[in-house]
Amino acid sequence: MEFLRKIWGLLCRPSPRALGTILGVGFAAGAIFLLVFHFTMSATNSTTICISCHEMSGVYDEYKKSVHYMNKSGVRAECSDCHVPHGKTFPDWINKIIAKANIGSKDLWHHFIGTYNTREKFEKARPELAASVIAYMKSRDSKECRACHNFEAMNIEEQGRSAGKKHKAAMEGGKSCIDCHTGIAHKSPEELESAAASKGDQGEKKE
Ligand code: HEC
Ligand code: HEC
Ligand code: HEC
Ligand code: HEC
Repeated sequence: MEFLRKIWGLLCRPSPRALGTILGVGFAAGAIFLLVFHFTMSATNSTTICISCHEMSGVYDEYKKSVHYMNKSGVRAECSDCHVPHGKTFPDWINKIIAKANIGSKDLWHHFIGTYNTREKFEKARPELAASVIAYMKSRDSKECRACHNFEAMNIEEQGRSAGKKHKAAMEGGKSCIDCHTGIAHKSPEELESAAASKGDQGEKKE
């Protein structure tokens, strides 16, 4: 109690030295908080964490079969490379925190209340989830894709004729990667829709 009273006294009537100590302690605590925050943020970018929940759904199996998991160049895109905002500017950093808070709260919430606690339920929700991911990527002008891919770095000559033509036009027209390239790590929205439709047919036949 005596100790608390002393602190309270200091806080109410701070001497210059006490004020210095308080500021110093505050600064150190802030620095430690930022460090811990930074490393937690990096740790939560890890694919291991994402698949602790998403392993049960098809998204992980499909990703493992995709060129973004394994390719001749040996460059792998992790879940967070595509799904968590990149960039080095302050607004990018804010975006990243918002996206993380979103994944953190929304994903955790639905996980724990069990919105999609079976594979079937998750599969059923996928077309809608895919649409929301695509809309988000569009809103960012495919910035996460462009962290690795760059029109200027593409050897258009070496690409297939249709790719070269489209990319030349896209460069001029300001189109975004995700406008033309979905389904590059998981089933595309079209594949998801047709899978859902064929399942629906089977269900009807059984009845
Ligand atoms: C605690 C379990 C859990 C963890 C960990 C988790 N997710 Fe999720 N995720 C879910 C659930 C449940 C949903 C479906 C509900 C929702 O968020 O709309 C989901 C949905 C998603 C979606 C589609 C929905 C949308 O609108 O964005 C993406 C993309 C996604 N997660 C990516 C990730 C990534 C990347 C990580 C790792 C950084 C991750 N998740 C970690 C449980 C989890
Ligand atoms: C971490 C880096 C990285 C990110 C992020 C990334 N890619 Fe890729 N992408 C690659 C690599 C590496 C390859 C394989 C290159 C090769 O052929 O060796 C590839 C291949 C591709 C291909 C060719 C597909 C094929 O079947 O040959 C397309 C299309 C593509 N990416 C689009 C995208 C889009 C769209 C995004 C954003 C949603 C994206 N990429 C995000 C690294 C990345
Ligand atoms: C207007 C549509 C369009 C846009 C926009 C577009 N692409 Fe493509 N892209 C194509 C077509 C068509 C092909 C050839 C067919 C295929 O491989 O899917 C292609 C092929 C590719 C390939 C494979 C090239 C090869 O020859 O192996 C990569 C990688 C790729 N695109 C990446 C991107 C990235 C990254 C962006 C955004 C910076 C982008 N594309 C924007 C239409 C587009
Ligand atoms: C190369 C970029 C890329 C990588 C890597 C990637 N995704 Fe995706 N993800 C997408 C795109 C693009 C979509 C939108 C739907 C589509 O076109 O496949 C998507 C959609 C999703 C969805 C919504 C449901 C669905 O089926 O579309 C979930 C959940 C998801 N991703 C989770 C993950 C997890 C977990 C990982 C890592 C195991 C991962 N993604 C790796 C690009 C990526």
